[in-house]
Amino acid sequence: MTDPVRCIEFFCGIGGLHYALNIAKIRANVVEAFDVNEIANKVYLHNFKKNPSKKTIDRLTEKDIEKLDAGCWLVSPPCQPYTRGGKMQDIEDPRAKALVHLIDLLPKLSTPPKYIFVENVKNFEISQSREKLVRQLDIMDYEINECLLTPEQLGVPNHRMRYYLTARRRSNPVTKEVSDYTEKSIIHTSWPFSGSNEMQNDVPELGLFFETLPRGEEKYQVPAKYILKLHGFRLDIVRSTDRITSCVTKAYGSHHIMTSGSLVQTKQMDITEYDWNDPPSLVALGLRFLTPTEISRLHAFPVPGYQLRVPNAPYSKKEPRPFSPPTCMPHLDFPDSVTLNQRYKLLGNSLNCWVVAELLRCVLFEEDVIMS
Ligand SMILES: C[S@@+](CC[C@H](N)C(=O)[O-])C[C@H]1O[C@@H](n2cnc3c(N)ncnc32)[C@H](O)[C@@H]1O
Repeated sequence: MTDPVRCIEFFCGIGGLHYALNIAKIRANVVEAFDVNEIANKVYLHNFKKNPSKKTIDRLTEKDIEKLDAGCWLVSPPCQPYTRGGKMQDIEDPRAKALVHLIDLLPKLSTPPKYIFVENVKNFEISQSREKLVRQLDIMDYEINECLLTPEQLGVPNHRMRYYLTARRRSNPVTKEVSDYTEKSIIHTSWPFSGSNEMQNDVPELGLFFETLPRGEEKYQVPAKYILKLHGFRLDIVRSTDRITSCVTKAYGSHHIMTSGSLVQTKQMDITEYDWNDPPSLVALGLRFLTPTEISRLHAFPVPGYQLRVPNAPYSKKEPRPFSPPTCMPHLDFPDSVTLNQRYKLLGNSLNCWVVAELLRCVLFEEDVIMS
């Protein structure tokens, strides 16, 4: 049996990619994680008992990387350079500098990693940063797969369209002078990548993801003042029988209630048609925010206490599994000192572990490093 793959988790946040490795049952160790956010690092340490390095990634040297002797890079860089809110400055945005630095370091390493996984927002696929990344990988003889996927395609009732790249270096790589990759590249939008047969997954009802909250719990109620200032704007209101929620962003829990994620209706359950021009009628619906635990479940982090009735059938190492709540350890838990708003921010910045796990299992890693 081969040794566990040594991984570096760059921009680790609360460790979404580390959880995905565990969910995918990859024989791997995260030998170093990097993030400059001290609150994220506190959560990471609490769960993985390992303190990420606070060293900024754009200052890492070849020596820093080489001494970790890693065969795999897990990379989820900041998304602001590629979003409208972040002004879409792409490679010119200082927040893209760390990713560009990693791309520039790659050819300088005596042993570049065999496996690379990258996650980012939709729009990254049309960025100069992505162009620079794939050209470098192609020159170094990596086999590249790129896709845009959202969790509901894999049976999770949440919308979160994200760009994913897997790159595996060919054995006996032949380095090229120039790359022609971008001219022939395909960004897949369904899975399996080949053919048009999108996975048919039953998406479970949201009720299975909801917590039972104590009666009169105020903590998660949407303040009436946030709702009363809206006129004619639609909110994404969900109920336990629905099967989709919108993308949770880092602004969730704040007054940005129109665009940051779904709100749960808790009163007047007979009302299913909403009058967007009558905000007091919306206040009467008893809207609440999703709890951090519910968001963690929708992002497929392993958290205790919920079970879906999905048969534990034998599965292939090359086909995505039907979604079932991850149970592997450690679970995602927050230290008491992390406030509710900080939890929302960290979760909004994070990723869907199930989508990543299935890409790691079925596309990136070779079968001999996947545990059955
Ligand atoms: C999109 S989030 C990644 C979230 C992570 N995948 C998770 O599961 O929580 C990007 C992270 O990069 C970190 N970051 C941004 N610039 C950095 C830099 N130059 N060096 C190290 N970390 C950085 C941010 O603090 C943030 O946590």
